[in-house]
Amino acid sequence: MYAVIGNPIKHSKSPLIHTAFAEQENTYINYQRILADKDKFTESVNEFIRHGGLGLNITVPFKIVAYQQCQQLNEYAQAAGAVNTISFDSKIGWIGANTDGVGLLTDLKNNQHIQLNNKNILILGAGGATRGILLPLLKENPSRILIANRTVSKADALADTFSDAGNISSCAYEDIDDLAFDLIINATSASLDNDIPPIPDNIVGTETICYDLAYSDKPTAFINWSATLNAKKSLDGLGMLIEQAAESYYIWRGFRPCTQPVFNMLRPES
Ligand code: ATR
Repeated sequence: MYAVIGNPIKHSKSPLIHTAFAEQENTYINYQRILADKDKFTESVNEFIRHGGLGLNITVPFKIVAYQQCQQLNEYAQAAGAVNTISFDSKIGWIGANTDGVGLLTDLKNNQHIQLNNKNILILGAGGATRGILLPLLKENPSRILIANRTVSKADALADTFSDAGNISSCAYEDIDDLAFDLIINATSASLDNDIPPIPDNIVGTETICYDLAYSDKPTAFINWSATLNAKKSLDGLGMLIEQAAESYYIWRGFRPCTQPVFNMLRPES
């Protein structure tokens, strides 16, 4: 049995995605949604293990507590300070991974054919979502990553933490350089309120790729903003969601699913 645990959880698309992956493997997996009380994460996971749980996805608000509870962490979970995938091993215990950043990179590279080598990247936001993607992004050798955030001290702290991994700096929204970036990633949670941070229009040029880590059935405010400015591409986080799920599935089952049919299933009009 597999599951995604969170609070809230009822809108999670993970059961649909993982069930579709299992069909590709010519098998069936029982993949559930677990709604856990905010202070009962560990109890809920232990109950899942008692019921034969094999693998777990973790979503808001449990990614950090999951990180703290794992006996072993992979490199990306370590860097992210957060875990979105757990496998259970009778000897080792809980093994935590973070597939969010890999999911983003797979979507950008394999699906969108975007290379990040030597690119100038702007990230909006300095919360958990940003932290989760920084290491895999820096491994692509961009010319630099600039993190802009409302609370500048959080952007400064992240830039400092990852300074050994590449050229990374931080600033306030009003101090963003006056140039068109190659890639702008919206990692703020403003999208969830249909809002965008206060950013200038001139950071989007005709070659700029704009990527919102959030997704919804309708275009997000950030997607609408970038499309109005004629960005080269305006992408939301559905591709990343499916790719992070595929990476989790591979960790659990050693089978790498094909993601395009699942993307088409969830967004048939594209
Ligand atoms: P997540 O795990 O989704 O990253 P988080 O850690 O709470 O969630 O971080 C939310 C991010 O969205 C932060 O960068 C936050 O800015 P602050 O650090 O200044 O709070 C940003 N954010 C949320 N709502 C925003 C808004 N309306 N305008 C600009 N930034 C916003």
